[in-house]
Amino acid sequence: GQASVGAALESFRGTAVADLSRLPSDVAEALERMRVDFEQFDLEYRSALSEVETRLEVLRDEYLHLHDHNPIEHIVTRVKSAQSILRKAARRGLPFDLEVLRREITDIAGARVVLSFTEDVYRVFELFTSQPDIHLLQVKDYIDEPKPSGYRSLHVIVAVPVHFSTGTQEVTVEVQFRTIAMDFWASLEHKIHYKFDGDVPAEIAAELNEAATAAAAMDARMEHLHRQVRAHSAPE
Ligand code: GTP
Ligand code: MG
Repeated sequence: GQASVGAALESFRGTAVADLSRLPSDVAEALERMRVDFEQFDLEYRSALSEVETRLEVLRDEYLHLHDHNPIEHIVTRVKSAQSILRKAARRGLPFDLEVLRREITDIAGARVVLSFTEDVYRVFELFTSQPDIHLLQVKDYIDEPKPSGYRSLHVIVAVPVHFSTGTQEVTVEVQFRTIAMDFWASLEHKIHYKFDGDVPAEIAAELNEAATAAAAMDARMEHLHRQVRAHSAPE
């Protein structure tokens, strides 16, 4: 909204929101167009996220009904702020062109799905992405191949149809699937990264990497236990 565009301007060129009225009219007009564009963006991407969230909830409820197991712990969603979109566009040297931003910045809408077990990650991913109107644009499997930091998650970029009064729009959404252990690790690592401004001391980075290995071992163990429990209770 207006506040976030204002914040973006403040951070980009030190222009206070209160001074906007003193800008030359062509600049003011461009800014106003930008504000309207970002509001449109926000609406589209929020709608796409509701669509994604609902589909995942339906899968969760059905799975619970059929198999007596809830694979999804929780889902969080966010739309990137105008400020972050502009920052990313600037970093990548992208022009402020809606179509370019839409195409090039694929994580404007993000959903994070936290699941109980690694097998749930792949199962829910399969079920979600095999829906006929979900278009799978990219998969990055950082579980199979963790990042050098130790980061593990399954990243998926999809296009989701959203039906507006003006027609149907394909909206790009980034979905991150991960287990509770992967999520625990990633949130701590993120905080540490932030604290050291991206320049994490080697010793701490090495320990984080070990912690990631421990988290992966924990996932394997919990899944093994879960399977054993299921084998016990399966025959009725
Ligand atoms: P971005 O420009 O950051 O989007 O990079 P990218 O397009 O190469 O995407 P990538 O698949 O690497 O995933 C980016 C997102 O994944 C980030 O915004 C984080 O949410 C998450 N992520 C990726 N690597 C790490 C990591 O090492 N640690 C943590 N905590 N999160 C990570
Ligand atoms: Mg990305």
